Amino acid sequence: MTITSSPAAFKGATPVALERFGRLPRPDLTYTPEVAEATAPIYEKLKHIIPAIEWPALAPTIHAINLLKKQRNAVILAHNYMTPDIYHGVADIVGDSLQLAIEATRTDAQVIVQCGVHFMAETSKILSPEKTVLIPDMRAGCSLAESITGADVRALRERNPGVPIITYVNTSADVKAECDICCTSSNALEVVESFGVDRVFLIPDKYLAANVGNKTDVEVLVWDGACEVHERFTAKELRDYRKIEPDIKIIAHPECPPEVVAEADFAGSTAHMIDWVKTRKPEKVMMITECSMADNVASETPGVNYIRPCNLCPHMKRITLDKILDTLVEMKEEVVVDPVVAEKARVAVERMINLKKN
Ligand code: 13P
Ligand code: SF4
Repeated sequence: MTITSSPAAFKGATPVALERFGRLPRPDLTYTPEVAEATAPIYEKLKHIIPAIEWPALAPTIHAINLLKKQRNAVILAHNYMTPDIYHGVADIVGDSLQLAIEATRTDAQVIVQCGVHFMAETSKILSPEKTVLIPDMRAGCSLAESITGADVRALRERNPGVPIITYVNTSADVKAECDICCTSSNALEVVESFGVDRVFLIPDKYLAANVGNKTDVEVLVWDGACEVHERFTAKELRDYRKIEPDIKIIAHPECPPEVVAEADFAGSTAHMIDWVKTRKPEKVMMITECSMADNVASETPGVNYIRPCNLCPHMKRITLDKILDTLVEMKEEVVVDPVVAEKARVAVERMINLKKN
């Protein structure tokens, strides 16, 4: 299956990655002594979360993916919400949305396998049009990306001439193409203030926009979108946790409602949350975000005790080891973006990346 950012406008796209690269034989997935030896260092990072009895079922797939990556000259870019078997087992680069976008511009690999949701793969394709970008499950979407279209942005601009429109990276290429600049949760405040004006739109996450608005004198206008994972956390549940664990540190993602962020000790992107825990090494911490975050960072932060209420992102969880293996064997599913849309969207994404460099 191939999804284009604007199927009507881009009729020339066909899913040709398999034709270009050919199919590879399916690897033998037996747990041999060689597989056990090659994957032993990986298991060290996963043993806190994967029981030893389950390892022989997982290790052959992890080993096969790591060999296939070399055969395909492929790199795996994995978001911090990937499950630990992907995050520690097969990913070449892990990070938040901004880090993954930057790494997509740096890699020499011919093929990018994006382990994350569709807008992340599309961003990689926008930044590296000459590369083949694959996503292990094309249905991995995002409630924020679904909440707005390019036509919505055009209408917004017509009604609000002269007001800069910043798009969160969690949007389709069509939306990025209509906006002035992109941002992620790690640089949203910097991007909002970069215009030097009184009012900007930050779309489509109304909670991220409100959280940024609370930190600046700039009036931040919103769109009515929300993350279906983070909007479910409530300030009351955080207060209730604190009553049970008074010395706990609570850190939250800025896609949470402002009253949740107000109850937290720190709010930041997934990468900033990980850095915060690694630097501060709190005795007890609660990460108010997607469930895999605590699982992934736990092996790198001995001594930190994770209290784990969390919400699963059903879209991120569509990406599995088995599907990654299929992706590399069959070169599916290819992400294609209309070149005209991609060129306009690239301007918005590169403005953001260049802001970070300055
Ligand atoms: P980050 O950029 O913080 O990784 O966030 C991406 C995301 O989708 C969080 O829900
Ligand atoms: Fe989208 Fe929320 Fe899932 Fe992130 S966690 S991909 S914002 S639905």
